[in-house]
Amino acid sequence: CIDIRKLYGQADVFTYDPGFTSTAACDSTITFIDGDAGVLLHRGYPIEQLASRSHYLEVCYLLLNGELPSAADLEKFEMTVTRHTMIHEQMHNFFRGFRRDAHPMATMVGVVGAMSAFYHDSLDINDPHQREVAAFRLIAKMPTIAAMAYKYSIGQPFVYPRNDLDYAANFLHMCFAVPAEPYDVNPVLARAMDRIFTLHADHEQNASTSTVRLASSSGANPFACIAAGIACLWGPAHGGANQATLEMLRQIGTPDRIPDFIEKVKDKSSGVRLMGFGHRVYKNFDPRAKVMKQTADEVLDLLGVQHNPLLQVAQELERIALQDDYFVSRKLYPNVDFYSGIILEAMGFPTAMFTPIFALARTVGWISQWKEQLADPQLKIGRPRQLYLGQSMRDYIEIENR
Ligand code: ACO
Repeated sequence: CIDIRKLYGQADVFTYDPGFTSTAACDSTITFIDGDAGVLLHRGYPIEQLASRSHYLEVCYLLLNGELPSAADLEKFEMTVTRHTMIHEQMHNFFRGFRRDAHPMATMVGVVGAMSAFYHDSLDINDPHQREVAAFRLIAKMPTIAAMAYKYSIGQPFVYPRNDLDYAANFLHMCFAVPAEPYDVNPVLARAMDRIFTLHADHEQNASTSTVRLASSSGANPFACIAAGIACLWGPAHGGANQATLEMLRQIGTPDRIPDFIEKVKDKSSGVRLMGFGHRVYKNFDPRAKVMKQTADEVLDLLGVQHNPLLQVAQELERIALQDDYFVSRKLYPNVDFYSGIILEAMGFPTAMFTPIFALARTVGWISQWKEQLADPQLKIGRPRQLYLGQSMRDYIEIENR
C-alpha cells in the first residue's frame, strides 16, 4: 500500500484550518474588526459615528476611495451613482423569464450575473476606467434590481427609479409606489433604510466577500464575481439569517412558548439554533446590532407597532437569552440580523426581501474589496489545499469482479 499523500507531495507542510478560523487570505486597508472588544472601523472610522453622522453613499465613497469625500467630491459621486440607476430595458425580459414565486435572491443571482451580457464596456478588469464604471453600475443598479425582483414577485408593475430622491428613499419608492396612487417616502423610514444599508456596507472577509475575492482571483468579470457573492450570502448562516430570524419568531408565536424553544436550542440533537444570535468574529455585542436596536426603536415608535406580537416575542427572547448561561458562556449575543429583520418587517417588507436588501447594501463592500484585490501587484489565483483522507492508490477492479 502506497501512502498517496507522500507520493503526490501532500506530506508538505500546510495549514489545516477548516472554516478559516485563523487564516488570513489577504491583506486589506478597508475594514478592521476587533471581535472581543466589539469594534468595527471602516478606513479607521467607527461604525457608530458613520451610522449616526454620515450616510450610505458617503460611506460608499469612503470604502471605495479610502478617505471621506469633500462636499464637491460627494456631489459628483452621488450624481454619477444617480445617473446609473436605470437598467438596460431589455433586462426586463430577463425578470419575466422567472416564475413569479421565485425567491428574489434567486432572481438577483441570475440578473446580476446576466449584467455581464449587457454591459460589455465594463468587463475588462485590466482597465482602471472600466473597473470604475463597473463599480458605479453595480452600486447604482442594485436597488433597482432588488426592487424589480420584489415587484415581479408580487405581480405589480416595475417602478422606475426617481433621480430626485436620495439612494434609500428611491429604493423605498421603487418597492412601495404603485402607479395609481401617490406615494410619499416617509423621511424617518428613509433614514432607517439608509442606516440599514450603512451598517451592512462591509464586514471584511466574511463568507460572501471571500467568495467574491476567490472568484475574482481567476480574473472573472465583476458582475460574475458579485453574483457569486450574492449566491453565498443567501445561506441562512450568513445573510439569510435575517429571514430565518423572522421565520423563527413566527414559529415561536407567543412569549410563553420561548422557554420551550430555548430548551430545544440547547439540545444539540435538535439541530435548532437561535437565529440572529452568535457571530464568528464578535464574541461581544456586535456594534452594528446596538445601532440597529436603536433604529428599530425609532421605526417602531413611528409606526406605532410596539405591540406587534412578533416584536414582543423578539424582545422577550433577547431578554431571556442574554441571561441564560448557555448563551452567556458561549458569548452568543444578538447580531445585526436579529434587529434588521424586525425593522424591515415593521416597514412592510416580506421576509423574502430581507436578504436582497442585505445584498444590495453589501455590494459596495464586495466591489471595494474587488478593486483593492485587483490593484494588488502580488495577486495570485486563490487555490486552497486540502487534507486528503481518502483511499490510498489501488488497482482498478473489473466490473464482474466487484
Ligand atoms: N444558537 C445556538 N447555539 C449556537 C449558536 C446559535 N445561534 N451559534 C453558535 N452556537 C453554539 C454552537 O452550537 C457551539 O456550541 P458548542 O461549543 O457547545 O459546540 C458554539 O456556540 C460555537 O458555535 P460555532 O458554530 O463553532 O460558531 P461559529 O463561529 O462557527 O458560527 C455562526 C457563527 C454561523 C454565525 C453561528 O453563531 C450561527 O449559526 N448563528 C445563527 C445564524 C446567524 O444568525 N447568522 C448571521 C451571522 S451575522 C451575518 O452574517 C451578518
